[in-house]
Amino acid sequence: MRRKLVCGNWKMNGNLVSNAALLAGIKAGLEPSNCEVAVCVPAVYIPQCQSTLTGSTLGWGAQDISAHTAGAYTGEMSVSMLRDFSCKYVILGHSERRAYHGESDALVALKMQRVLQFGLTPIVCVGESLAERESEQTKAVVSAQMEILLAAIDAADLAKVVIAYEPVWAIGTGKTATPEMAQGVHAIVRAKLAHKNGELAQAVRILYGGSMKPDNARELLAMPDIDGGLVGGAALNSADFLAIVHSA
Ligand code: 13P
Repeated sequence: MRRKLVCGNWKMNGNLVSNAALLAGIKAGLEPSNCEVAVCVPAVYIPQCQSTLTGSTLGWGAQDISAHTAGAYTGEMSVSMLRDFSCKYVILGHSERRAYHGESDALVALKMQRVLQFGLTPIVCVGESLAERESEQTKAVVSAQMEILLAAIDAADLAKVVIAYEPVWAIGTGKTATPEMAQGVHAIVRAKLAHKNGELAQAVRILYGGSMKPDNARELLAMPDIDGGLVGGAALNSADFLAIVHSA
């Protein structure tokens, strides 16, 4: 049985004061459960997470990382630096990074290798745009993204990866994929994973992301291949985030 994971993606939001309140609210409302819960925050606030969350069941991580290990890469951050602050997760290949920073599938695959090399958990995002969905290319687009990732990974490492299906048209728009639509794509992702290793594919968590809210989380999370959520806007409010965690 796969352990569900609900991860907040704060994107470029927050400040020291609001973060303290948000983290305290989440910590206070977290009940012992089998659901893994984490927040991926702007890098400068990772030390704040470490000092606030050490000893709690709430994990933390980053929203991107360099594909390099060290050196002359101005503005970049390495996975080993994240490890210094006990980060467990790194979101990779978010559609906002693909769109605004030109990240390619090949670069995302390299970053995934780097994150695995240093023992953190990559949460790798895939998903189609609205134009791709409307021209019925969802399966082709997501399959192609998965194939590039899978070519870069050893079969033995498969279960260490988390995949997040985030239809680009559902991110921050209030439009959510229906549970059936999302399940359909999650099943495609699982089938791709199974080509690599049938048994380990069953252990890989596939999260849904895109306007997940307290009022739609339960239905989405009830689908057989939806193993958690990557939550944007609703992760900035402790009551909403906790409601999603409780649904999981
Ligand atoms: P929203 O939940 O705000 O739609 O964002 C989803 C997302 O991009 C999570 O990574």
